Amino acid sequence: MKRLVIKSFKDDLNGFLNLVPNRIKAINESNADPLPKEYGVNALALELHPSELELTVSDTTEITDGVRILSLVPDKKTVLPFFRAGQSINIKNESFSTPFSILSSPGSDKYEIAVFSDNKDNVSRHLYDLQIGSKIRTSGPEGFFYYISLRDKNTITAFCDNQGAPALISMAKSIADKTESYSLKIVYFDKDSDYIFRDILNNIPSVSAEYVADYSEIKADCGKAFVSGTESFCEACIQRLPDARINIVNPKQCSGETTEEFQCTVTFRDKKFVFTCKSNETLLSAFERNSVPSAAKCKAGECGYCRCKLVEGQVETVNIHSVDSLRQADKKYNFIHPCRSFAKSDLILAL
Ligand code: FES
Repeated sequence: MKRLVIKSFKDDLNGFLNLVPNRIKAINESNADPLPKEYGVNALALELHPSELELTVSDTTEITDGVRILSLVPDKKTVLPFFRAGQSINIKNESFSTPFSILSSPGSDKYEIAVFSDNKDNVSRHLYDLQIGSKIRTSGPEGFFYYISLRDKNTITAFCDNQGAPALISMAKSIADKTESYSLKIVYFDKDSDYIFRDILNNIPSVSAEYVADYSEIKADCGKAFVSGTESFCEACIQRLPDARINIVNPKQCSGETTEEFQCTVTFRDKKFVFTCKSNETLLSAFERNSVPSAAKCKAGECGYCRCKLVEGQVETVNIHSVDSLRQADKKYNFIHPCRSFAKSDLILAL
């Protein structure tokens, strides 16, 4: 008969029996100084990626009737956080928020944004009338619409309409001042041939721009494309360019004429909000109108920031192709994006 020898058993047992005494010894021998309240790496992360900024309007330029460029700078002590050309900042006014693409280059010492006075959102109307010296609160730079050299080809064709042009202007400027390095061709669509940002684009060296008035010029054979513009423009492009990277500017927060009204109940921690929502406004609009403390960034179903649980009721979700970031598990367990959802019955939601 062979003997079975388990060599480690005794050591294991000793190790286990000495576990508590060894821990007490290690604790007694360790430094008794209290743990730091702040860690340097966290402070640096907050400085590089602040969730909120206070900026001052340093300049306003009317580039055409109803379109104004605002230059925004931080106070002298604050460093403007770096951004990727194509990203946006979210600007909040009372309880309404709207993302604006940054039009300046990442190499610049200011954020420039274009404000359209006839945009229906509350924030644009407020911004359009701001004077030099006015202060505004914004988010840090955010969004996923930017060039990545490891992922994207060295030659990009980008399509825009008037509203989507600022994001591409920032990309063009970043190439011109050598912050980024790739080749960019811009196809600028405007059915009225006004091309509001044509002069700005034409003054940026080393970027080719083509001005078209017809969707038929949007060709599917341009390789990987970037598309930046209003929802209807992006929808038209995505038919021809299903793999394009999309930046939806000023996404619709209202649809159709019918306005059935439903009761909406929202729970948020220990608070409950009960209000009426209309069938033709996004739930997020109804939240903002009723000062529900909802989170939102892109308002286009992309960032997932507004995600909440549909506890009871029916909604219609409207997403343009490829821009729904809800995960399969979210769908299974009834999570929705209020920025893309419309009420179809009385609702109960949990934020
Ligand atoms: S705000 Fe981004 S997904 Fe709704």
